[in-house]
Amino acid sequence: MSLEPQTSPSHASPDQAADSSGLRTLTIDIGGTGIKMLVLDANAKAVNERARTLTPKPATPEALLAVIKTMVAEQPAFDRVAVGFPGIVKRGVTFSAANLGNDVWLRFPLQEHIEAIVGRPVLVMNDADLQGYGVIVGKGVELALTLGTGLGAGLYVDGRLVPNLELGHHPWKKEKTYEERLCDAELTEIGKKRWSARVLEMIQQLEPIFNYDTLYIGGGNAEHIKGDLPANVKLFSNVEGMAGGVKLWTTAKLV
Ligand code: BGC
Repeated sequence: MSLEPQTSPSHASPDQAADSSGLRTLTIDIGGTGIKMLVLDANAKAVNERARTLTPKPATPEALLAVIKTMVAEQPAFDRVAVGFPGIVKRGVTFSAANLGNDVWLRFPLQEHIEAIVGRPVLVMNDADLQGYGVIVGKGVELALTLGTGLGAGLYVDGRLVPNLELGHHPWKKEKTYEERLCDAELTEIGKKRWSARVLEMIQQLEPIFNYDTLYIGGGNAEHIKGDLPANVKLFSNVEGMAGGVKLWTTAKLV
């Protein structure tokens, strides 16, 4: 089972996709470095400041759930929860997590565990898939990449998600994957100038493969990109991406 739109966003503007129920969505972004939380109103506007806590090390399910429990207690009221997880997610169950420690996350029913903590309905999906939902317009082919601890990728066709595109782990150059050449550790290692040149090189590589209408680049390190980007490439912030939590509840269904 994966997440697919209930209505075709090509017939609905982002505003129309907003929820008319007035429900508030707690969006949780689980990252390799930090866990972020924010409550959004029905129009995907933040009702509080984003909270951030360091991801526990080792990031076992128990340790991570304990941090989530503590953080959730500090959040304003919410009706439902959307979670972005940094690995493959199917039917609320995790299947990988390269930056959290893979083995322990194989077949972990994260959705039901978070549901037990918050006592509200929860949807869990890949973090980049969720972030992309926050910024796409729902027309044509749109690709969203997140540059943070790892490299995430969400692909959408007329707003319909192609779930779990693990582009980051695809071999790219010099026997290294996209993630290995563009991850946070590599940015620290080679500096913003060389890293930015690699980002531009990656864009040149991906454009003729995906032939997207728009490429969105977000994640904590997007702000470090130096240089001119092609006209069909747009940068987005982590907070903008978290709006995907509402989109997930309003336009997606479990299939
Ligand atoms: C994971 C992806 C994730 C990305 C960003 C990668 O290592 O395999 O699933 O989206 O990191 O967190």
